[in-house]
Amino acid sequence: MQRVEAEIARLIKEIDYNEVTRLFEMLSGGKRLRAKLILKIASEHKDAPLLAAIVELIHAASLLHDDVIDEADTRRGVASVNATDGSKVAVMLGDILYSKGFTELVAFNKEIAQTIAASVTALSKGEMMDVEMAKTFNSNEKKYLDMLYLKTATLIEAAAKAAAILAGKNPQTHALYGKNLGLSFQIVDDILDITADEETLGKPAMNDYVEGKCTLPYIYLYEVLSVDDKERLVSYHAKKISKDDTLWILNKMQEHKTIEKSFQLAKKLSNEAKKAMSDDEDLVNILNTMIQRSY
Ligand code: FPP
Ligand code: MG
Repeated sequence: MQRVEAEIARLIKEIDYNEVTRLFEMLSGGKRLRAKLILKIASEHKDAPLLAAIVELIHAASLLHDDVIDEADTRRGVASVNATDGSKVAVMLGDILYSKGFTELVAFNKEIAQTIAASVTALSKGEMMDVEMAKTFNSNEKKYLDMLYLKTATLIEAAAKAAAILAGKNPQTHALYGKNLGLSFQIVDDILDITADEETLGKPAMNDYVEGKCTLPYIYLYEVLSVDDKERLVSYHAKKISKDDTLWILNKMQEHKTIEKSFQLAKKLSNEAKKAMSDDEDLVNILNTMIQRSY
């Protein structure tokens, strides 16, 4: 991973603008899941750290824009750039990181470049759907999972596929692994929004529903509630609600085991990812660590 960090630092330096360097240093690096995946799959290839750095720059750009869109004050436990320097700066920094990533990407072979580029169109589409869906209460599980796939899983899928192409490995099985890992990862993330505390999350707890996001535990809850309780749940949608009302939601989720049900789906997808790459111990271990983040 040191090689990836060195590549990221080199690319940022090449942008040759002190303000960008300063702002970038303020960002917390995060888990670097996508970079780790690329390094594991294409460990022997000399360009793997560069590809990993490119994907992390694109990912960082998408989060900068996402925090503007979501009006989020924190990211990865530190103040977001839109909170400290304003939305204009956050958007422009995102633009610079994103286009620097693409500038480097075009030097890779066409299939790799197209794989990553197409996934960025998909994740931008996913973000737009997410914003649209947050306007009203969404109880459609399929619609939610389709959006999650675009918003979160496509870049992970593309990272795994591109690394496989780079390493001369099977692109299809690696893509399938990445897709299911991405979906499973996001579902666990959605669960953690409900079960973890603010300190662990690095952002306010139970914030998804306040932002209008009906994640799986809410969708499953809606399915089983009485007509009156359905109405009560929907009335809390996209609002800052009292502690008592939050507790009501939590109790209902416990009563109807909707967090467990969501976790079961994450586990199923993770098992499908494992099946796709059962002969690669490292890739199976990444999944095990990821799924253990919750509970
Ligand atoms: C986080 O979702 C957001 C994403 C994974 C993707 C955001 C994508 C864009 C803004 C498209 C623009 C892309 C580029 C490259 C400029 P979330 O809000 O559910 O998660 P969070 O809790 O981490 O904020
Ligand atoms: Mg967000």
